[in-house]
Amino acid sequence: MTDSPRRYHITTFGCQMNKADSERMAGILEDMGFQWTETPELANVVLYNTCTIRDNAEQKVYSYLGRQAKRKHEQPDLTLIVAGCVAQQEGESLLRRVPELDLVMGPQHANRLQDLLEQVFAGNQIVATEPVHIFEDITKPRRDSSVTAWVNVIYGCNERCTYCVVPSVRGVEQSRTPEAIRAEMTELGRKGFKEVTLLGQNIDAYGRDLPGVTAEGRHQHTLTDLLYFVHDVPGIERIRFATSHPRYFTERLIRACAELPKVCEHFHIPFQSGDNDVLKAMARGYTQEKYRRIINLIRDYMPDASISADAIVGFPGETEAQFENTLKLVEDVGFDQLNTAAYSPRPGTPAALWENQLSEEVKADRLQRLNHLVATKAAERSQRYSGRIEEVLVEDQNHKDPTQVMGRTRGNRLTFFTGDIDQLKGKTIPVKINIVRAFSLTGDRVDTPVAGAAC
Ligand code: SAH
Ligand code: SF4
Ligand code: F3S
Repeated sequence: MTDSPRRYHITTFGCQMNKADSERMAGILEDMGFQWTETPELANVVLYNTCTIRDNAEQKVYSYLGRQAKRKHEQPDLTLIVAGCVAQQEGESLLRRVPELDLVMGPQHANRLQDLLEQVFAGNQIVATEPVHIFEDITKPRRDSSVTAWVNVIYGCNERCTYCVVPSVRGVEQSRTPEAIRAEMTELGRKGFKEVTLLGQNIDAYGRDLPGVTAEGRHQHTLTDLLYFVHDVPGIERIRFATSHPRYFTERLIRACAELPKVCEHFHIPFQSGDNDVLKAMARGYTQEKYRRIINLIRDYMPDASISADAIVGFPGETEAQFENTLKLVEDVGFDQLNTAAYSPRPGTPAALWENQLSEEVKADRLQRLNHLVATKAAERSQRYSGRIEEVLVEDQNHKDPTQVMGRTRGNRLTFFTGDIDQLKGKTIPVKINIVRAFSLTGDRVDTPVAGAAC
């Protein structure tokens, strides 16, 4: 190892799971005496936490890696790590592609970073991609925010959507115990965090791998039970969760969200396609009618709830008429936000081997048409905020305008207003909305507290 100061840099790609893993790995590196640097060129340890959900995400990693690999020839004591989903997918073959690498580690090994690095410092080149039981995290994550925090509740995914690499790179479902989750949230509350987002690739699967069934034969630990169990953690004012799967979304869960004041009225429920035959080919396990029923039920209980989702266009064999069913669903539901993507064939997934792949032109054209509709609908949805008073939990300064702070409404709309971050950070402030954009809002602070406010 080099003399101090020893610095580390992490670049994170991909989803919230990866962000949460990076925060834990950063915590481990700080425990080992490393200091954060924003600039990879100044770091002794450079870690890329990677994503392979689509081909362009994977290719991005290789271009970043190439730069650092070159640098290693001039600075042999640089430690180069690839973690996350590309590491898991490629394993040994990453070392052949980039022999300068010191450590290739899958997502299940994130909590073992110290142990793995010690082996690297002892002169070994390591690949850690075997499936493991994920041990409870004993280190303290270095969290990016001091107001909002991610808390993993279930790792992995047991679904087999035919387009998706996640089950093969994240492994089988492993739920944390309700006690461990509550303990982490209690610690966060004690430190002054105000909002927690509970995380899982399919969060509705929470608890099905834990022991215990009720007298009625239902799993004892479900996401609904977990929400009741953690709801009164002192200091935590808002609770969110993601990602929901339409196949497992229950009325019991909706009722709990309506009943529990800290649970915010925002639901992220990917539908992927608005066509039943495409949904079947994707092996999603629900119909578009069932999806609509869930949304209607949510709106029966919480009329103002915001709804976001993910959708894929250009799945193998998708016809123009089938694509139009997706447009129709988007038109009818009126999403507050929709993450859209053109289908990308992924290694080891069934759909990648099918012969009915669509051309890139067709996919790009459909993506553009869908995005246009999404922006129009989101702008329409945003109108309902105009003139309203919303509770905004202040997270940070508006980096584009330092006279403003930024935060989120309970419905997860990004909101800006004039204020001093030193005074307002972590506070929930009533804000009267006067400018509405498709995906964000601007308003003015008001003194009247919101009637019936939970936070
Ligand atoms: N667990 C979540 C999503 C995980 S991946 C769920 O079940 O919905 C995040 C999003 O990436 C997916 O919702 C999907 O819209 C998109 N995605 C996944 N695989 C993809 C692929 N092969 N091509 C294009 N988009 C994909
Ligand atoms: Fe992928 Fe489906 Fe699992 Fe979501 S539920 S992570 S889309 S396999
Ligand atoms: Fe990407 Fe892995 Fe998340 S593939 S989307 S980082 S689970």
